[in-house]
Formats: sequence, C-alpha cells, structure tokens
Amino acid sequence: MCGIVGIVGQSPAVPRMMESLKRLEYRGYDSAGVATLSKGSLERRRAPGKLDALAGLLANSPLEGNSGIGHTRWATHGEPTEANAHPHMTDKVAIVHNGIIENFKELKDELTASGAEFEGETDTEVVAKLLTRELETGAEPRAAFQTLLSRLQGAFALCVLVAGKENLMFGAREGSPLVVGLGDGENYLGSDAMALAGLSNRLIYLEEGDWVELTRDSVQVFDRANTPVERATSISQVATTMIDKGNHRHFMQKEIYEQPTVVAQTLGRYLDPNAGTIRLPDMPFDLKDVPKITLVACGTSFYAAQVARYWIEKIARVPVEVDIASEFRYRDPVYVDGGLAIFISQSGETMDTLAALRHAKDAGQHIASIVNVLGSTMARESDLVLPIHAGPEVGVASTKAFTCSLSVLASFAVQLAADKGEIDAATVANYVSELEHAPALMAKILSDDEKIESIARDIATARDILFVGRGIYFPIAMEGALKLKEISYIHAEGYAAGELKHGPIALIDENVPVIGIAPDGGLSEKTVSNLQEIMARKGKVVLLSDNKGSIADDMYAHFEMPPAGDLISPILYALPIQLLSYYAAVEKGTDVDMPRNLAKSVTVE
Ligand code: G6P
Repeated sequence: MCGIVGIVGQSPAVPRMMESLKRLEYRGYDSAGVATLSKGSLERRRAPGKLDALAGLLANSPLEGNSGIGHTRWATHGEPTEANAHPHMTDKVAIVHNGIIENFKELKDELTASGAEFEGETDTEVVAKLLTRELETGAEPRAAFQTLLSRLQGAFALCVLVAGKENLMFGAREGSPLVVGLGDGENYLGSDAMALAGLSNRLIYLEEGDWVELTRDSVQVFDRANTPVERATSISQVATTMIDKGNHRHFMQKEIYEQPTVVAQTLGRYLDPNAGTIRLPDMPFDLKDVPKITLVACGTSFYAAQVARYWIEKIARVPVEVDIASEFRYRDPVYVDGGLAIFISQSGETMDTLAALRHAKDAGQHIASIVNVLGSTMARESDLVLPIHAGPEVGVASTKAFTCSLSVLASFAVQLAADKGEIDAATVANYVSELEHAPALMAKILSDDEKIESIARDIATARDILFVGRGIYFPIAMEGALKLKEISYIHAEGYAAGELKHGPIALIDENVPVIGIAPDGGLSEKTVSNLQEIMARKGKVVLLSDNKGSIADDMYAHFEMPPAGDLISPILYALPIQLLSYYAAVEKGTDVDMPRNLAKSVTVE
C-alpha cells in the first residue's frame, strides 16, 4: 500500500528518496512522486505507473534540494493519474499521505465555498489546501499543523514540507504507521522501517495520535493533546542492502524456493530437537488456563488461521473461533473471560487486523500476534509476539510467510496441547520430530517442480479453476484459489470437497480443471469420491496426493507428494499450489510480483 519517505537533510534528497521508494515498491503502488525544497521554493515531479517513469521524468528535469518528501501511491480516492499522485502541493506546502481522510468531502465543500480550486479527486489535496489556508491566516507552521490535525478525521500518516523552511518537516500518525529515523545532522520519516533502511537504523515508532516536528538536528514528538512526549528509540533489524531476486526471475519464485531454508530457520527458533520440546517465548498468562482461542486475520494469513483451527481443536481440544478481520469487529463477537485472541499478519500493519486486535484488547482478551515484521504496530500492541522469521517478503502474493506462520502455529498448537495436559511428553517429541522433517520434504517437493510447471502451463488457458479439499486441506484449497486468482487473474474458488454437489458441481464441464488435495489417509477416500463425481462430468482432475489410488487411470494429471505426518502435511501441500499459481501466471505473462490492483500491506479499511 502507499509508502512514505521524508528527509530533512544535508545532501541532495532525490537520489536517496528514490532509493527508499524502490525499497517500498513491494507494498504495491500505481503512481509515485517526490517534492523538494530548494532555495525556499517547493517543486515536485509525479508520474503514474512504476518508479521508472518517475526516474525518467527526474532525469529530464531534475529536482534540487536537501529536504524532500516522496510517495508511492496505491489508489483509493481517484484513479492513478499524475493529478492524483502525491505529493500534493500549493505554493506554501507539499504533503504526502497514507490512509483515508473520512471527512474530506465536508472539508472540500468548505474550502470550495471559500474559493479553493481542486485539480484532482484525492482527499490529500484537501489536506494541502486546508493547511495552506491556515498558513495564509498568518499562523506559524507549527500552529497551522496543529489546527490541521484537529480538523482531520479518519486514518492517516502525513509528511509535510513548508515553503521557505528547508530545515523543517512535520509528520503525524493516526491509524496509519509512521516512523522517525534518526540521522547525524539529518532526520527522516518513513511509512515503515523498510523505507528508512538505507538512511538510518535508529527508529522512533510514533504512537496513535502522535505528531512530530523534525529539523536536521532535532526531533520533537507530541501526543494527541499537543503535549511533548518521549518515545523510545529502537534499533531496526531490517537489512540495509537492497533485497534482490538472486538468480530468480521473480521475488515470488525466490520466496517459494527459499521456503525449506526459512521454515527450517523458523522451526529452529521454536523447537528444541534434542530435548524433543517446543520453545515459546515467556508469556504474561498461562496457556493451560486459556478457555478459548480467537484467530483473526486477512487474506493468506486468514487461511493460516483456518488451518490452525484444525490443529488446535484436534490436538489441544481448545475451542477456536476464526474470522476475517474486516468482519470480526463489526459482528459484536462474544468473548470469553481469559480468552486468547491471536492475530496473524505478515506485515503486522493490516488495518482491519489491527482494528480487530484493538477490539479484542479493549474487551480484555489476552493478545498474541504472529507477525513477520517485528517493529510492526501489531507486535508492539500485543501481550505476546510469536515472530515468523520469514525474512522480508517482497512478492505481493504471500508464500513463505504462509508456511512460516503455519510452522509457528503448529508449534504453538503442540505446546498448548502439552500445557493443557492433552498430550504427553513422548507425543510432543514425536510432533517435534515430524516438524523437523518438514524442510527436507519441502525441498523434495520443490525439486520436482517441472511436473507442476507443465500442469500449470496446461491449465493456464482455463477460465475457471476449482480447488477442493476436506478437513485441514479445505483452507489449503482456498489458499490455492486465492493465489491463482491474485497473480494469474484466472477465476478460481476453493471448496470443501463434500460441498461441491450442493452447487459448484454445476460449473463442471470439460473446460474446468479441478485441483484435488487429498493426502492418503484420513478423509482422502471421501475427497477421492468427490473427485470421481467431477470426472463423471468430464471435469479435468489434477490430484495432489501421495497415493493416486483408484482414480489413477481417469484423472487428468497427478502430482506425487511425499508421504508425511498429519501435522506437517498442510504445510507441504501449500507448495504445489503456490507453484501451480506461479507457473500459470508466468505462462499468462502477468506482473507476478506486483499483480494489478493489489497491495502487499493493506493499511486502509
Ligand atoms: C494483502 C496481500 C495478501 C495478504 C493480506 C494480509 O491483501 O495482498 O497477500 O495475505 O494482505 O496481509 P498481512 O500482512 O496482514 O498478512
């Protein structure tokens, strides 16, 4: 989603801002822009499309100045045109903004009535005009900025430059993250630690309602009541080197293929193979007393939550409620005293998940978050953080964060079961040993990728594709469908195999591939019966299983999976569905890492 960088500096700002914007590309965007202050005047360049377009513009018409603000925009109000791109500017201020100003219409009407004219449709332009009007009344910049903030409703992170004030920048955080970077004789603002990775590793995470005034050698933070406050400085762990694709064609490909390594690293943090035990961080509550678990997330993280429900209920016998974050808080959920609410989010910033976390926190639940970004807002607002240690995930379609989240959730489920007295030490040790084998099995599956690549090429021409599974493989089917539609734009749905005959089977004909996820044992025979029903209607069945069983002769294709234990199987079956989507998207020639309309980190509702 939108990215922000701001520099109050001592050397040319544009090259450094462009590098930061490059680091922010992974969030997803459809236009970009920068503004600088040079000899007291504000100037900007903006371009729809990728950063290359902006870089081309800057090459032809450079911008000077040591202080500047930059932005990558993911369109919300108004199309991704130059006029709607940030920074928004008047002769007095330049502003970049993430989030949504909810009362922008009313503010716009007010400004229009007093003679203001607007070039685009964004809410941010309204903010720029409102601040300008304050400055025109003769207010000092700080007072004008305070008045501005008092008028805005909604969720926003703002970064502001004022004409004639090269050694000054304002920032504000209300609902959207904003981070201060501390430099030597320079200071910075960024939408996340990644934006500032090349500039500083000393960071101050602003809290909700905070605003900040930066000069080259001072940083003053104020809270919502305009009282000066001290906020802790933390040291960023984000690597300063630009993440690259290595030998891979896409980040997504790299992230799929590095899963055996990163999952091994994650498990290394949570397992003690010698002792045959699980290691969880210290907790401010006792797992054995937890009466109920609520799991909340969005997108791929939501499917990780759904898989975890099966583990937790089956192994630990604790009731679990799972919901999509955007629905959860609006349905007035019923909490149980002493309940544990777990929020799963790669970014730790997804607005809906964060709002759900705060809802549960206000209701007195214990709060845990499973995140990839350690300094993220969710991590900072949780009682317990279970990091997934996946390393930066750049591809918009989540892959390694999914399997690493699952690895953490599986470890958690086993420990919960042990603490609840549902399993003994020997069973824990068996699970630990099973988890330990996951990375090797993942590597084996990935080494057989040519087969899945050829299946993907065959099905890439389909208009609709179904994924089916039962039990714990039902969420894997839904994740498969999500992955495929995200990056290949093929319409896909994931169904519980037993539910097909209640409607979706009407879609089946010889043009509809159906991916069946059916590891041997458990419910596989029932899934296979459902696949038979599909084949009887000429559907093209692709079976993912370690046992091709009775349908071997009739199915369209079979991808052979290694036999594996029940606990790790869902983690392993994530791989062929990722590969299938990836190679289908490559076949279709889509922008795999930055699919249309999607953003990596969704910080609006
Ligand atoms: C976006 C991404 C998805 C991701 C979801 C949740 O929609 O495109 O890939 O699963 O956000 O993100 P989170 O960071 O909360 O896991």
